[in-house]
Amino acid sequence: MPGIAVLDLGGQYCHLIARRVRDLGVFSDILPSDTEVETLRHFDGVILSGGPGSVSEPDAPRVPQTVLTDLGKPVLGICYGQQLITDLLGGTVIREHVREYGLASLSIIEPDLLFQDVPSDSMAWMSHGDTVTSLPRGFRRLAKTETCDFAAVADVDKRIYGIQFHPEVTHTQHGMAILSNFVFHICHAQPTWNPASLKDKLIEQIRATAAGRKVYFLVSGGVDSNVAYALCAQALPPDQLEGLYVDTGFMRKNESEQLRLAFERIGLPNIRIIDDSQRFLDAMQDAIDPEEKRQRIGPLFIEIQQELVSAMENENHNWVLGQGTIYPDTIESGGTAGAEVIKTHHNRVPMIAELAAQNRLLEPLQEFYKDEVRALGQALGLPPDLVNRHPFPGPGLAIRTLCSDRHAKAMPHGGIDGICREFGLHGCVLPLKSVGVQGDNRSYKNVAMISGVAVLETLSQVSTRITNGYKDVNRVVYCLDAAIDFKALRVHDALLTSERLDVLREADAIAHQLLHAHGLEHQLWQFPVVLIPVSHGAGRRSESKGETVILRPVYSVDGMTAEFAKLPLPLLREMARAICQLPTIDLVCFDVSNKPPATIEWE
Ligand code: XMP
Repeated sequence: MPGIAVLDLGGQYCHLIARRVRDLGVFSDILPSDTEVETLRHFDGVILSGGPGSVSEPDAPRVPQTVLTDLGKPVLGICYGQQLITDLLGGTVIREHVREYGLASLSIIEPDLLFQDVPSDSMAWMSHGDTVTSLPRGFRRLAKTETCDFAAVADVDKRIYGIQFHPEVTHTQHGMAILSNFVFHICHAQPTWNPASLKDKLIEQIRATAAGRKVYFLVSGGVDSNVAYALCAQALPPDQLEGLYVDTGFMRKNESEQLRLAFERIGLPNIRIIDDSQRFLDAMQDAIDPEEKRQRIGPLFIEIQQELVSAMENENHNWVLGQGTIYPDTIESGGTAGAEVIKTHHNRVPMIAELAAQNRLLEPLQEFYKDEVRALGQALGLPPDLVNRHPFPGPGLAIRTLCSDRHAKAMPHGGIDGICREFGLHGCVLPLKSVGVQGDNRSYKNVAMISGVAVLETLSQVSTRITNGYKDVNRVVYCLDAAIDFKALRVHDALLTSERLDVLREADAIAHQLLHAHGLEHQLWQFPVVLIPVSHGAGRRSESKGETVILRPVYSVDGMTAEFAKLPLPLLREMARAICQLPTIDLVCFDVSNKPPATIEWE
């Protein structure tokens, strides 16, 4: 079937490119980067994805040179894809001193079909460390940004294009128009792809995978597992399906009870609720590192499920495990060729791979993004409040309660403070790390804290300047308490305890109640509330191990990229005042980082 082949060079957004092309009504398929030209001849055009590699590294993924010299079909290289085209055809790519993450102003220099109906100045999303500095013979420059001379280039005669920005992420203002121009005006593809029969096909696939075996389905109450489980309930007879809900103790306030009621309401059959919170807490006793936490939680889920199933099935191996895994879970866990592990999702640990190898894993939604899952949920007739819930990660509050084994003061930082002062603010660095994603790579870096009087737009600018300029910082938080004294900030040792989880549960409930009261929850993709072991000794409890709560509301379409949500500052301050009444809370901050360079969750 003609359409667009997307060659996977390991980019976090590779699937997103294929998704966007399908959104245009054109079939697209993701293929390994070493796919031979013969296979690609069946397509109307080829897109080379971004990727974490650097063309100078010997083991970075490459495509066969013949894709550019012999295929004769249009090629579009995105980010690393552009750098690879440049390198393969004799241009130069260098590792830049100043890396570029976030929004940049894109100026078109030479009109071309690729930019038809795109204004000459617009915003584009950048996430790269390497940059093209000289072009191969036959190429011309089509667009630039302030810091990137070759934001778009082309050999128009050969129909080979390269762009440094990411048209596939929603933050690029005219990204869809640019992709559409490539697909329709340059590749001349036809809009013949129609996923209308998706539901029926998925039901068929579920029946085929289950193959008469009993399906034990891990439900969490989240959108993905609700929809996947509801699909299974339509595909399989009731005695072939049982839902297992494991209460880890890392859930939000009253969550397990609400979920039980919700399942009852929609009549999903056979849900078994298992309270194993103490076991999870014991397993996490001395875990500090985020990946360590994830690697302990994931297998424990499966261990518990296997114990339950073994007890029920009596050594009979005639069963299959069902999960609501969606595509971003896989790609962020490094599950596609060339992609780097950003975070190991609880449903992507090695034990799951073993079950998959034994053909005992059922993941009906593994190729889907959240917004597609929601559309499918609606088509299944699930109530809107279940389909539109904010996502909540499987490891729950365990990865929102940061742990530490050190004692350290906040660090003064001339460069960061200098940026802040330009805007009448102050800044320092907390010696506490959180996870980020930059240029397709995982990062685990310190957090900058800024304070002073500012409007949201200023916070956004300062945050981007700091993370673009300083390699050792991937996240910026804004202190909601005007009376902050950086010298009194201390990171202290802290483990995952039930007391800390209880405090976070209360803080989370307060923030969400106020959000709900202001009718703003549906504007947000998600609103994590995070507890970090940072005390502010100048506060009420100078000797105590006080803590800091972080408010992390974000806008996103699919969780792969995100913008910090511009909630009104008076509302955030109202939340902060209420949360500061909790016994151990010294301070409340607002996370003003986008993804990239940060991630939505801190761990
Ligand atoms: P990050 O933090 O990587 O998160 O920007 C992207 C989206 O994924 C969710 N998330 C998870 N979901 N299991 C899940 O089911 C996990 O282990 C997990 N980790 C992150 C996160 O809440 C956000 O919506």
